[in-house]
Amino acid sequence: MPGGRRPLLRTRLALLAIVWVGGCGSDDPAGTIPTPPNQPGQPGQPSLPATPTPPLRDLAAGVGLRIGAAVDQEIRLTGQAGTNARTVLVREFNATTPGNVMKHDHIHPSPTTYAFQDGDSLVAFAEANGMVVRGHTLVWHNQLASWLTGGTWTQPQAESLLVTHITTVVSHYRGHVVAWDVVNEALADNGARRATFWSNAVGPAYIEKAFRAARAADATVLLFYNDYNIEGTGPKADSAYAMLSDLKSRGVPVDGIGFQAHFQVGGLPTRSDMIANFTRFAALGLKIHITELDVRVPLPATAVSLQTQAQNYRDVVDACRQVSACTMVVLWGFTDAYSWVPSTFSGWGAALPFDASYNPKPAYQALHDLLSTTTQSRAW
Ligand code: XIL
Repeated sequence: MPGGRRPLLRTRLALLAIVWVGGCGSDDPAGTIPTPPNQPGQPGQPSLPATPTPPLRDLAAGVGLRIGAAVDQEIRLTGQAGTNARTVLVREFNATTPGNVMKHDHIHPSPTTYAFQDGDSLVAFAEANGMVVRGHTLVWHNQLASWLTGGTWTQPQAESLLVTHITTVVSHYRGHVVAWDVVNEALADNGARRATFWSNAVGPAYIEKAFRAARAADATVLLFYNDYNIEGTGPKADSAYAMLSDLKSRGVPVDGIGFQAHFQVGGLPTRSDMIANFTRFAALGLKIHITELDVRVPLPATAVSLQTQAQNYRDVVDACRQVSACTMVVLWGFTDAYSWVPSTFSGWGAALPFDASYNPKPAYQALHDLLSTTTQSRAW
C-alpha cells in the first residue's frame, strides 16, 4: 500500500481523513492535524470528563513506549457516541489493533474473496491520528470462516490455504502494520500443543510454516507469537518458552512474544514474577508486547475492587517498563462502554480504565502516575 501502490486505500484514507481527523500533541508537533470536532470545552459541544494532562500517549512516547487500545465498533459508531469514543481514543493512545476485522472469518469470507475494507478503514484512521497498528491475527483456532472449517482438505491443500491466507493478508498491509500476531493461542491451558483446525489439517509444523510465510510476505514487520496465561512463570509459560526457544534455535523468523494479559482482578502473577518471565523471553532475543490487557471485576464494581484493579494495571505496565525489550502495551478496549468482557464472562465487567461515560477510573490514574514517573527510555 505505501508509495501509491494501492490507490484504493489511499482514496479511503483521504475520505476517512475528511470524515474524521483527530490530532495529538507529540505526534503532530507542527500542528498540522486539525483539532477533533468535540474537544472538551469547544463551544456548542458536550464536554467529555476531564483527565490529567498530558495524555497517556504523550507520557508513553516520551520514554519510547507505545500505549494502545484494541478497537472494534468505536471506529464505526455514528453520532455523538462515535465522536466521543474516537476523541478519547486518539487523545490517549498511540497504537491500536483490530478487535475482529483482520481475523480469518471477517477478512477471508469465501475461498476467493478477501474483505479488506474494515481493516483498511482502521489503518487509515490510525495513520491519520499518528497511531501504529498491531495486526491481529493470522492463525488461530477461533473465528475461522466456515468455508474453511467445513471443508475437507488434503494436507497439501490445507498448507496451501494457510500460506495463501497469510501471504495475501500480510502483503496487503505491508508498510501499514508494525507487528503481526502470526500465531495466536497455540497452547492449551496445561501447556500441551492445542489440537486445532490448523494443527490437524496441516500438521504440527503449521506454526513454523506460518512464520516463514509471513516473513516471505513482509521482510521487516515484527512477527509475534501471542497467548494468554503465560504472563507469569508456570507450566504454560514454560511450554511457550520451550516452543519459542526451539523456533529461534532453528532460525524460524519469530521477533516477539505477546502476553495477552486478560486478568481477573487480584488474580495476576506478581510483578516480580512477570519481570522474571519477560526477562527470560527477552534473553531469547524476542521483543515483548502486552497485547490485550484488561482486568475484569465482579459486577457491580466497588471502590475496593476498582482500587485493586488500578494496582493490577500498574503492576503489568510496571513489569513491562522494567524490561527494556518490552516496547508496547495494548489494552483490549479502553472504555467499559465497549468491552468483550460482560458478554464473555457472565457477572464480570468494568475491565477497562475509562468507565462507560469516559470518566477516568483509578486504573487510568495509576497508569498516568506510573508513566509520569518513568524515565528509562527505550527504542521501539
Ligand atoms: C475477542 C473479541 O474481542 C470479541 O469481540 C470476539 O467476539 C471474540 O474475540 N483473545 C484474543 C482476541 O486473541 O482475539 C479475543 O477477541 C479475546 C481473547
